[in-house]
Amino acid sequence: MSVTTQGWLNPLRDPRDRRLPRIAGPSGLVIFGVTGDLSRKKLVPAVYDLANRGLLPPGFSLLGFARREWQDEDFAQVVHDSVREYARTPFREEVWQQLAEGMRFIPGAFDDDEAFVRLRKTVDELDASRGTAGNFAFYLSVPPKFFPQVVQQLKKHGLADAPEGSWRRAVIEKPFGHDITSAKELNRIVHDVFAPEQVFRIDHYLGKETVQNILALRFANQMYEPIWNRSYVDHVQITMAEDIGIGGRAGYYDGIGAARDVVQNHLLQLMALTAMEEPAAFDAESLVTEKLKVLKSVRLPADLAKSTVRAQYAEGWQGGERVHGYLEENGIAPSSITETYASIKLEIDNRRWAGVPFYLRAGKRLGRRVTEIAIVFQRAPYSPFDPSATTELGENALVIRVQPDEGVTMRFGSKVPGTSMEIRDVTMDFAYGESFTESSPEAYERLILDVLLGDANLFPRTEEVEESWRILDPVEEHWETHGKPTQYASGSWGPKDAGEMLARDGRSWRRP
Ligand code: BG6
Repeated sequence: MSVTTQGWLNPLRDPRDRRLPRIAGPSGLVIFGVTGDLSRKKLVPAVYDLANRGLLPPGFSLLGFARREWQDEDFAQVVHDSVREYARTPFREEVWQQLAEGMRFIPGAFDDDEAFVRLRKTVDELDASRGTAGNFAFYLSVPPKFFPQVVQQLKKHGLADAPEGSWRRAVIEKPFGHDITSAKELNRIVHDVFAPEQVFRIDHYLGKETVQNILALRFANQMYEPIWNRSYVDHVQITMAEDIGIGGRAGYYDGIGAARDVVQNHLLQLMALTAMEEPAAFDAESLVTEKLKVLKSVRLPADLAKSTVRAQYAEGWQGGERVHGYLEENGIAPSSITETYASIKLEIDNRRWAGVPFYLRAGKRLGRRVTEIAIVFQRAPYSPFDPSATTELGENALVIRVQPDEGVTMRFGSKVPGTSMEIRDVTMDFAYGESFTESSPEAYERLILDVLLGDANLFPRTEEVEESWRILDPVEEHWETHGKPTQYASGSWGPKDAGEMLARDGRSWRRP
């Protein structure tokens, strides 16, 4: 069964359609670390896609800053190649030409004052020649150890202060520290230069359509909220499974691990959106207030040995190919204890969720790439049907499929056609691909546009980041002082102890 969009509104004719286009005003984007993978595969293609959708102003300017001896044309060529390879929307020569006219490259290291002087001059020159109006966002797509230096240089060269009537914004990529102490230090350094409303921290999961749909599902409808609580929900499972290994990212990943890489940010944000109360308004302040209340109410169970699991992928089969274990990957020491799989049980101490466990798991080289949130409901308290006619049913579940097969599934029991009262689990599906003709923008498209618009709804605040470390730090400390990670075969669904963790509670992980 599938759901279709009813009451479709024609924007040209229907007076009920009050939508306004969200188009960025005069502005430019400076990317530090523009030669890196993130920039090539995500940021630059997202900028092109925005231009292609007509969401950027005509004089939009894109500046790259990196340690290469490139001219503007070399930079434009590199951008061209990434757009051709990674952009979501089709290549259109006229869009490209207009974008390319606003591209500039500043060669230099982060400690090179002259490079920042050139950057300042270029920014001023673009204001005059392309009407960027002094509005610039600085995207720090660089390893965190360079954050302090880059923000200090921006301050020193007068780039962080917006001229009268314009804006300056800083965009920061995770990791935002590796524990609460380093996160606080990082926040102090950034806020020494930029005011809180100037800082946009990227958690790209919040830019995903399906993640925003958690709020739509919960708060634009009437039928879910009455059952979205401890009286009806048995537990919640949040899964972020990846089929890839660490690829060429040993330098970043080793010593960080799955919990710091994705649980501290993506999974805790998904949990907060799932568990929070309705915000007073759909604005950044109200959203942060509600997410923060949830994060502050999170409690780790007392026995971390029984309520957390970490493990490393061993060799195995993935997509018909024999693959290495984590300890055999290039750049990983055979003695590494960094986890590539983490599962953690959390409780939320508030009236809505007391006693309902939230099980979070994330891992690399698992059976399949899938991210989902499953709200698993309690079983019906009593069944009037003859047990000899039917098999035991699973629990009702509402599954928000974040990716890759975006949509929502509901599982419930239904009568099997026939002459007895046999009941079986069935699913009802809503699939984005079937219900909407337009395809979803990439998370980075949405987030870069929001930065240019100054819309902070989808960006975690300092307090959320720190609160998330408060939750995770004891787990990391426990792992550091208690032995080594176990192993799981690549291509499997994770380590045996993760299954045992749920089995102790009389539950089991879903097989997405
Ligand atoms: C990043 C992590 O934040 O998210 C990566 O650092 C991970 O390790 C990636 O692979 C997954 O993102 P997505 O959008 O492909 O689910």
